Amino acid sequence: MPHKKLFIPGPTEVHPDVLKAMATPMIGHRSGDYTELQKRVTEKVQKLAQTANPILFSASSGSGLMEGAIRCCTAKKAIVFSVGTFGNRWYEIAQGNGVPADKHEVEWGTGITPEMIDQRLSTGQYDCATVTHSETSTGVMNHLAELAPVFRKYPDVVWCVDAVSSFAGVNIEVDSLGIDVMVTSSQKCLGLPPGLSLATFSSKAEKRAEGVKNRGSYFDLLQLLKFIREKNFQYPSTMSISHMFALDLQMDRIAREGLDNRFKRHDAMARRVQDWAKKHFALYPAERYASTTVTCIKNTRGISVAELNKELAKRNLTLSNGYGKLKELTFRIAHMGDLQMSDIDELLAAIEGILKL
Ligand SMILES: Cc1ncc(COP(=O)(O)O)c(C=O)c1O
Repeated sequence: MPHKKLFIPGPTEVHPDVLKAMATPMIGHRSGDYTELQKRVTEKVQKLAQTANPILFSASSGSGLMEGAIRCCTAKKAIVFSVGTFGNRWYEIAQGNGVPADKHEVEWGTGITPEMIDQRLSTGQYDCATVTHSETSTGVMNHLAELAPVFRKYPDVVWCVDAVSSFAGVNIEVDSLGIDVMVTSSQKCLGLPPGLSLATFSSKAEKRAEGVKNRGSYFDLLQLLKFIREKNFQYPSTMSISHMFALDLQMDRIAREGLDNRFKRHDAMARRVQDWAKKHFALYPAERYASTTVTCIKNTRGISVAELNKELAKRNLTLSNGYGKLKELTFRIAHMGDLQMSDIDELLAAIEGILKL
């Protein structure tokens, strides 16, 4: 089966060297070698996230650590700020775990404003708040730097950020923004196969979790922390060691590219796709909220996205239809991870050829 280049918003393309690292022979998950590996990867992730906080790993996709975050960091009630499907997922997770939560959902295509957060938090009802950074379903990116000053006004609120489709593609200065828990997955901008997630974990989040009685088990963030502290960078169950080998290598590749260059590359690819979308279709999100890692395009020409993808498949390319209720109303082009501008140009030229634009 020939490989189709992925322009879907995860999983993304994985570099052959990273795939090779996934095939490294196993080591014991209680060995000194494993300890060294997790410790080394932790230090590299801390640099990328610009945080001194511990890095929690989970042998699950990101939804697992989202569950751990909202469950462990809510003693009173959580407020979920939602701009689409993945914002709504936080709320569903809370409900499924019996965590008291309210949802503040905005019209799709727009973002969360500082005023919305201030208005909700000033009620004093909430001690945990969630924000989606890049909402993959609508292509909306919330502006974390604009929201951070409001969170600073409420020191009792634990701030959780879903950076699943943005971390490693967009600069997120976790500590200077004051984010308590930032969750991401391996299969997006990090450019790894799916199956690993990680989170930053502040001391405020830790203290909160200490006061929460039912933190679950597999996603009990304090349990993850305990194995880092007491077992010297290990994991309560068996880690996906292959992912850790791959992440170790990928973090070096990212460092070689340079963080600034990596963020600039994502920015440039986003601008290229957004300009193209505005020329031939229209952006789904309001322009100031258009995501740097995935562009959601309004299907103003009423094309069949399924047909387009069939034609693209013949050229070994694939993009994504709209998510859920936006299925045929939009289509999405991801520009994340290790994709280069030349890949974007190849895709856009192919679409122009197929649709005779
Ligand atoms: C913004 C966002 N949040 C959460 C998730 C869920 O992550 P995972 O599939 O790694 O559980 C996704 C997956 O696409 C996502 O895009």
